[in-house]
Amino acid sequence: MNEKQLAAEKSIEFIKSGMILGLGTGSTVYFLVKKLAELINDGLSVKCVSTSRQTTELANSLGINIFEFNQVNYIDLTIDGADEVDENLNGIKGGGGALLFEKIAASNSKQIIWIVDSKKFVKTLGKFPLPVEVVQYGYKSLLNKFIDLAYKPVLRKKDNDIYLTDSGNYIIDLHLNEIQNPFELEMKIKMLPGVVEVGLFNNIASVVIIGRGESTQIIKRK
Ligand code: A5P
Repeated sequence: MNEKQLAAEKSIEFIKSGMILGLGTGSTVYFLVKKLAELINDGLSVKCVSTSRQTTELANSLGINIFEFNQVNYIDLTIDGADEVDENLNGIKGGGGALLFEKIAASNSKQIIWIVDSKKFVKTLGKFPLPVEVVQYGYKSLLNKFIDLAYKPVLRKKDNDIYLTDSGNYIIDLHLNEIQNPFELEMKIKMLPGVVEVGLFNNIASVVIIGRGESTQIIKRK
């Protein structure tokens, strides 16, 4: 079993019958959704909310019913992937483009677990390009601003077209290499007009499950 699958399957232990469950997005969450479908088939009763079209389609294809976020008042537990996590459990998310819905789900969840492989656990965030979701209007001025700030911005593309999020926005990936103060940076970027969301998820995850070799390591927020 690979590290992503190990972490995903370990996270199942945190799910209890009756929960409203938030499902993240990505290749690690893929293993979670597959396992969850088996458990639901065997009688586990949970209400699921999804953070992306991709996850909704996967869940539906496996027979899992997905509720609109607006149909529930809160989420008991959200299990999601991440692109990088540091020792303080701050992280970068949005490599898969779902940062906006992921942050909304996370900020309405009683508990948040991230499932990652061991390569993603880092000392300092920033090697992974930081995704920033922006509205289409005036995105070039934001690109220029990020160039002036030496953030090395790259407009995300998919098959030569500009990548579109589930909300029809663009993503600018910032190649920062090192983020010394994730809190300060999140605020600085978030306040720029046109920015919808930043892929810095600070003080959000309460538990991180790392797939490491043949086993898993669980780190809880202190
Ligand atoms: C989706 O936008 C992201 O936040 C994902 O959670 C993150 O990119 C992890 O994805 P993988 O599990 O595919 O590495």
